[in-house]
Amino acid sequence: MTEATEMGAGGVPRVGIVGGDGIGPEVITQGLRVIDAIGVELETVDYDLGGARYLRDGVVLSDDTLDEWRNLDAIYLGAVGTPDVPPGVIERGLLLKMRFELDLYVNQRPFVTDTHDFVVIRENTEGSYAGEGGFLRKGTPHEIATQGSVNTRMGAERCIRYAFDLAMERSKHVTLVHKTNVLTFSGDLWQRAFDDVAAEYPEVDTAYNHVDAACIYFVQDPQRYDVVVTDNLFGDILTDLGGAVSGGIGLAASANLNPSLTGPSMFEPVHGSAPDIAGQNKANPIAAIISAAMMLRFLGQTEAATRIEQACHACAEVEGSTEQVADAVIAKL
Ligand code: IPM
Ligand code: MN
Repeated sequence: MTEATEMGAGGVPRVGIVGGDGIGPEVITQGLRVIDAIGVELETVDYDLGGARYLRDGVVLSDDTLDEWRNLDAIYLGAVGTPDVPPGVIERGLLLKMRFELDLYVNQRPFVTDTHDFVVIRENTEGSYAGEGGFLRKGTPHEIATQGSVNTRMGAERCIRYAFDLAMERSKHVTLVHKTNVLTFSGDLWQRAFDDVAAEYPEVDTAYNHVDAACIYFVQDPQRYDVVVTDNLFGDILTDLGGAVSGGIGLAASANLNPSLTGPSMFEPVHGSAPDIAGQNKANPIAAIISAAMMLRFLGQTEAATRIEQACHACAEVEGSTEQVADAVIAKL
């Protein structure tokens, strides 16, 4: 990962903390404990946001908060969303607004087990998530809903270029995943952008998989992958599958990156707020802890990041309460 160069006052990074809803605050607490245990100092600023806050006073994410965030070095987020808020309010109004407004155009999701080690680079600001579309004759028998997929050449290309840069630090292999045989417009744009960027990296080997076939390979032959690059929706779905075949979604971490460093990047576990197990000290904190390690790496704390990641992988099978699993990670540091 590219490393941030400028820190907050005194070299101590300023990090916004959004615990969020459900198990979010529980797992973030453990991530911060591990950072503390390894001796990295952060200046944290808490933000009470998410479904619970929305139900209390209607606030999702104000422009003032967003402006404050632009001056942070990073944001560490647990999970947002509650069952009593209509779908989309928090997802679009908080999480996607953050990704779009802060231009977090790369969503990096690593999957590491004893037998495989690959990373998915998901485009994070466009595609079907862009919000293009609408209703006609809503609520009538002749209702029409459209939901377009927005793909810019710049958006695809910058994400693909990040994937190739990352591959240069890894095993020098990039797989494009799309559905070019059916999505002949967006798929064609992605394929051409991929081929053009690939030509700039002669040392990197490339492959292409249709997304349906990739679902089979993720399960049956994940060893074939090093870096996978794909669009927003395919990347959303594939990374849940990646988690499922890599020890479970409780281990899946992610970094929402602005590699241009024009603002903070955001780090969060792939899992959601899991309201069914919230408050029971049952959630696996590993995904949140690995996300914290990704944040440290991005902030230039490479050695601490590697030590935390290794401890987490050594504790992948540990069972126990949220706190006990974090204790085990801390003991392994
Ligand atoms: C994820 C989540 C989000 C997404 C939701 C909560 C909007 O599933 O980060 O993968 O779809 O991107
Ligand atoms: Mn998802």
